[in-house]
Amino acid sequence: MNENLTRMGDYYAAALDDVELTPKTRAILAGLDPSAQDHKQAISLPPQCYTSEDWFEFEKRAVFDRDWVCVGHSGLIPKPGDFQTINMNHDPLIVLRDQAGVVKVMAGVCAHRGRLVCEGAGNTDKFVCPLHHWTYDLNGQLLGAPEMNSVLPLAELQKQAFLPVLRSEVWNGFIFVNMDGRAMPLAPRLKRLTKEIENHHIGEMLGTPTFDFPDYNWNWKYMQENAIEPYHTHYLHRGIHDHAPSRLASFVEWDPDDDGAVFHPTGFVELDGNFNMSFKCLFPVIKTLTEKERQRVMFITVLPNLFIGTVPDGVFYYIIQPQSANKIVLRVGFLYPEATLADKNFDYIFKMTVDGLCTYNDQDVASNAGVHVGLKSRFAPRTRYAPKEKTLSQMNRWLVKRYKAYATELESRDRAAAAGR
Ligand SMILES: [Fe+2]
Repeated sequence: MNENLTRMGDYYAAALDDVELTPKTRAILAGLDPSAQDHKQAISLPPQCYTSEDWFEFEKRAVFDRDWVCVGHSGLIPKPGDFQTINMNHDPLIVLRDQAGVVKVMAGVCAHRGRLVCEGAGNTDKFVCPLHHWTYDLNGQLLGAPEMNSVLPLAELQKQAFLPVLRSEVWNGFIFVNMDGRAMPLAPRLKRLTKEIENHHIGEMLGTPTFDFPDYNWNWKYMQENAIEPYHTHYLHRGIHDHAPSRLASFVEWDPDDDGAVFHPTGFVELDGNFNMSFKCLFPVIKTLTEKERQRVMFITVLPNLFIGTVPDGVFYYIIQPQSANKIVLRVGFLYPEATLADKNFDYIFKMTVDGLCTYNDQDVASNAGVHVGLKSRFAPRTRYAPKEKTLSQMNRWLVKRYKAYATELESRDRAAAAGR
């Protein structure tokens, strides 16, 4: 059995081994406070937070292991046996709906030689590793392992060879995994946002197949920052963003007791706006929305790695898959009510929707890559924020709280070791 696994009731925890606090990591930690101030005083995070691989290793423990990481949406796995795979921080995971209809997240690594037991997405009643045909059920239990009976009876082998099911939580259909098994539940930290978007009924929506943009050469945090700040939209996206002008962006005050997400609405100049070259919704507007909700997009960052945009006819979202401090894979998905997907013209209109979003994304891609080159430079800035970057100082508060909590954990571990306990 894998020695990184800890059994915690119905699921397994699989936290990474702790890092050592290096002088460089300590120096970054010592410089975080100015970033976690009230918006008017806050400055951006130290540039090394975006570029240092040591810092990324620290973050993998402080943030990605100890909090909730998004790995998919239930609308892509509506039927028993449906599954989708995702690679999160180099861990291949399977997101699936079991025969009882329960959403599960499990490791996708065969317990024999480590081959991926499945890739992509599909529907199945079992996972058969292509290499030696070791076979697992949808609960991760080993069903069979050819020619192994003479080594260990199946009942014995099953105790050490399985696909561990990890702790997961579903919010608005978005599926999150918690690697260390000890995170506070997510939904109670999303109270205000949940209320703001309840009329969208995102948990009941179905998804179109996601697509991955590989090899985006910038940090995972900057992906979120670009998406959640409405300062740049008036400049970088001038012309194509004028129907959702940054002057119609508004902000909410930070609530440390309800800090599961950073979000802000931007108003549309006209009812039922959207992000395509007609600047209007192409699909039927969601019936349950109020007029106020039809006149806005809600941009949402569920840190660390989920970004959502709610528009009057559906939802688009990004799942950020960090590859290193300096690289991400961006998974893009769209969600719609079932009736919208059933329309005979769906594919045709959907293509226009995707092309529309790509028009904005292409500008962001070029810009984000440029920012990352600048952040790696000796001339990298640490900056005061504009009023319309309020969401960035809020992101910093979320991050710094978690960075400090993990640093405190490490320091008390080190003190205990020094005291010989
Ligand atoms: Fe943008």
